[in-house]
Amino acid sequence: MKAVVYDRYGAPDLLRVEDVPVPTPAAGQVRVEVAATSVNLSDWEGLRGSPAYARLGGLRSPGRRTLGSDIAGVVDAVGPGVTRFRAGDEVYGDNLALMGGFAEYALAPESVLAHKPAQLSFAEASTIPQAGAIAWQGTARATAGSRVLINGAGGGSGSFAIQLAKRLGAHVTGVDNAAKQDFMRSVGADHVIDYYRDDFTKSSRPFDLVLDLVAGRSVFAYRRALAPGGTYRCVGGTVRALLRVLTVGWAVGRLTGRSVGVLVVQEGPAHFEPVTDLCVTGEVRIHIDRTFPLEEVPDALARVGEGRALGKVVVTPS
Ligand SMILES: NC(=O)c1ccc[n+]([C@@H]2O[C@H](COP(=O)([O-])OP(=O)(O)OC[C@H]3O[C@@H](n4cnc5c(N)ncnc54)[C@H](OP(=O)(O)O)[C@@H]3O)[C@@H](O)[C@H]2O)c1
Repeated sequence: MKAVVYDRYGAPDLLRVEDVPVPTPAAGQVRVEVAATSVNLSDWEGLRGSPAYARLGGLRSPGRRTLGSDIAGVVDAVGPGVTRFRAGDEVYGDNLALMGGFAEYALAPESVLAHKPAQLSFAEASTIPQAGAIAWQGTARATAGSRVLINGAGGGSGSFAIQLAKRLGAHVTGVDNAAKQDFMRSVGADHVIDYYRDDFTKSSRPFDLVLDLVAGRSVFAYRRALAPGGTYRCVGGTVRALLRVLTVGWAVGRLTGRSVGVLVVQEGPAHFEPVTDLCVTGEVRIHIDRTFPLEEVPDALARVGEGRALGKVVVTPS
């Protein structure tokens, strides 16, 4: 089968298409003929080996040769002990532990997969598991009339998060670069900020909830952005910023009547299927920026990593 592989961290031109053996599912695993894999910032981070947490699987060289976690496709074979799926089932899920979605076939533990609703295409379904789970959990504390800010709102998770927070009745501010301002408005943001021009932590009106997809500032700046009783949660960003939030952030929050912390995103169908249900009913819209064939995975990753994508980028291996 064809797979996009790499052997060291670096630029997209290190990726190449190779013929590799079709993998055999072990106990509890499902083999999926991959129809679509959406690109996440975590794929770009895994390619670059940066931030440092992207090297958890392999310090000097990548632990997995093929990236791509958000897969959708058809079950082709199942390993011993698999009970929820059989050959021919249409499935989707976030295969973060094994990756391998930029290939014609991928192995995934059955626990990460869900049955794909017939109403969604494979490409649409592949956009939901990781970005939808982040957005669902990151906006869970939004309430009617609350002021919510999403930093990095023009990307994959952000476009879901804006819609979910709006659905809960919040006033939503989206922060991203100038090219994404119209896009953030089009998915429902009430107010938008270009992060090159303005610093949201210096806003005259603080926020009740900040969901930060790209943390990089000091804990004190985040505390300043919060109204009394407000909550700041980051899910990604520089390791330095994440460590500061985990340590100093907690204390600063406690001492000032706010909550500053890291959101450890729970994975699995229970955490993304609620978003899928809203996509099926049309309450949340899926925004696919572009689709790419397997041979163009380097371009697809660069489009996300270099910040040109509006919404989700999808690769279609077969
Ligand atoms: N905690 C967990 O368990 C977990 C699990 C999976 C993923 N993650 C993390 O969750 C995040 C999800 O990101 P995603 O997939 O939605 O990424 P994405 O699609 O790339 O969106 C990120 C957006 O942030 C923008 N951005 C970059 N720097 C910014 C800044 N300083 N201020 C404001 N916006 C900025 C980017 O635009 P430009 O770069 O073009 O400016 C881009 O539009 C990633 O950081 C990933 O590592 C966490």
